[in-house]
Formats: sequence, structure tokens, C-alpha cells
Amino acid sequence: MGSLDGRVALVTGASAGIGEATARAFVQAGARVVVNARRTDRLNALSNELGIAHIAMCEGDASDPAVITAMLDAAQSAFGAAADLVVVNAGRGLAGSVLTSDPAQWDDMIRVNLAGAAHLMRQASEAMLADIDRRGDWLSHPHDIVVLGSTVGRHISPFSSMYGSTKFGVGSLAEALRREVGPRGIRVSLLEPGIVRTEFQQVAGYDPESFGALMDKLGPVLDPSDIARTIRFIAEQPSHVAIGDVVIRGTRQDYP
Ligand SMILES: NC(=O)c1ccc[n+]([C@@H]2O[C@H](COP(=O)([O-])OP(=O)(O)OC[C@H]3O[C@@H](n4cnc5c(N)ncnc54)[C@H](OP(=O)(O)O)[C@@H]3O)[C@@H](O)[C@H]2O)c1
Repeated sequence: MGSLDGRVALVTGASAGIGEATARAFVQAGARVVVNARRTDRLNALSNELGIAHIAMCEGDASDPAVITAMLDAAQSAFGAAADLVVVNAGRGLAGSVLTSDPAQWDDMIRVNLAGAAHLMRQASEAMLADIDRRGDWLSHPHDIVVLGSTVGRHISPFSSMYGSTKFGVGSLAEALRREVGPRGIRVSLLEPGIVRTEFQQVAGYDPESFGALMDKLGPVLDPSDIARTIRFIAEQPSHVAIGDVVIRGTRQDYP
């Protein structure tokens, strides 16, 4: 018997990195999972690997409220139940500061990392509150919203300050949402990873040479499976236990 048997999860940004590893960890623990990202070929490969009995795909832009509605509908239509474990993961980085980052990319990053995350938090909360009402109590079945922040959303990093600002923002939304829906039975967790080796660094436009040197200095850095295992641990807790904030770094990463 799996620790997440009976759970229906939704993971955005599941075509790579942390989201993909989390979808895999959830299925291994017995959950059924709606996966979202824009790259359909990657989602198809994941679905073929994990099996269509456990995976439902909902491709599209995770910051589009209509796509978010479709993700939540997919949980119902594929698995006959509301999503009770939502991972707000889709996001992107951006190298540089207020002065040095590319301003042409600011809007896209803010839309995905902050506005999109808020839309998903809102719609997921509404669906979970309706599910709790339908069940008649919150204690018999857990409901989780897990939000991906970052250590640069907790400690100022002048080297990626525009990206960091979106993670400061999403961290404050997660804590505000926890205070709003926690008393009604929904657990909201903020997970703030340090450096994780994924496609993130390439998408963000980090200089491979200097970032590679940093990873060598601070490494071994985290693997996506380290984050997935932590998210699974958060979800496995009994309903009356809520893990609020988790900061997770590679052991030798001193900053941020
Ligand atoms: N890696 C790190 O060091 C690190 C540290 C702290 C926090 N984080 C956070 O962790 C989360 C996951 O990052 P990662 O490291 O796994 O990066 P990644 O390997 O680049 O994966 C990002 C995922 O997000 C998806 N995505 C991006 N924009 C999207 C959009 N508009 N709609 C739907 N999906 C979208 C990508 O899929 P498609 O391109 O197929 O859409 C991909 O599946 C992000 O929120 C990131 O800020 C990462």
C-alpha cells in the first residue's frame, strides 16, 4: 500500500526538473496525477513511463486561468475526484539584477511565477473548499497546496534580484493563503530550495562557465528527486499536521 493511495494530485511544470520528479514520486507512492506543462512530447513520455491509469495530461500555459480550470476539471474527468494535492511549481528564472537583467523578459517571468501561481492558488483553494464541504469534514482526508519558492525569495541575491522578487512575492502569498484557508482545513506549504540541477539555469540564462564554477564550489547541489522526496513527505503527514515552511539546500551551499 502506498503512502499517497487515494490522493489526486496536480503538478504544474511537470515536463522537466522538480515537477517531473515530483509527479514520478507521487505515482510511486500511489497517487494519481494531473500533469501540466507546455511541452506535450515530454508529458507524453512521462505518461507512457508511468501509465495512463496514474497520469492525466493537461498541456498549456500554467499562468492562463482557463488552462488552470482545465487542469482541475481533468482531475475530475480522469480520476473522478477533486485534486487534493496541488503543487504550484511551473516557473522560470532570469539572470541578473534590476540593472543587468533583460527587461524584455520581466513580464513573462512575473506572469508565470507570480500571477499564474496566484491564479492556481485561488482556483485550487476554491475546489478544495468545495471538496471539504462535500465530504462534510476536513480531518478525514488531507488537502495540500505546496508552493515552490526559493532561497532567493528569502535572502536577497543581487545576482538574480528580479527573479528573487517573484519568489519573495509568491512566498508572501503562500503564507497569506495559509492563514486564510488553514483554519478551514487546507494545508499550505512553502518549499524554498537552494540550487537544484535542472533546466532552470539554462532557461534563466546563467553563464554556464561561472555558474558551473559556483556549482563545483558549493556542490554537490540538490537533485530534483531531493525536492520531490520532501514534497512527498509534506503530503504524507496526517491531516492534523501541517508543515509550513521548508528551506532545503545542498549541504555545502552557504548562501543564498
Ligand atoms: N532549479 C533551481 O535551482 C530552483 C531553486 C529554487 C526554486 N526553483 C523553482 O522550482 C520550480 C521548478 O523549477 P525547475 O528547477 O524544475 O526548472 P525547469 O527544469 O526549468 O522546469 C520548469 C518547468 O516549468 C514548466 N513551465 C515553465 N513555464 C511554464 C508555463 N508558462 N506554463 C506551464 N509550464 C511552464 C516547464 O515546462 P514547459 O517548458 O514544457 O512548459 C518545466 O516543466 C520553479 O518555480 C523554480 O523557480 C528552482
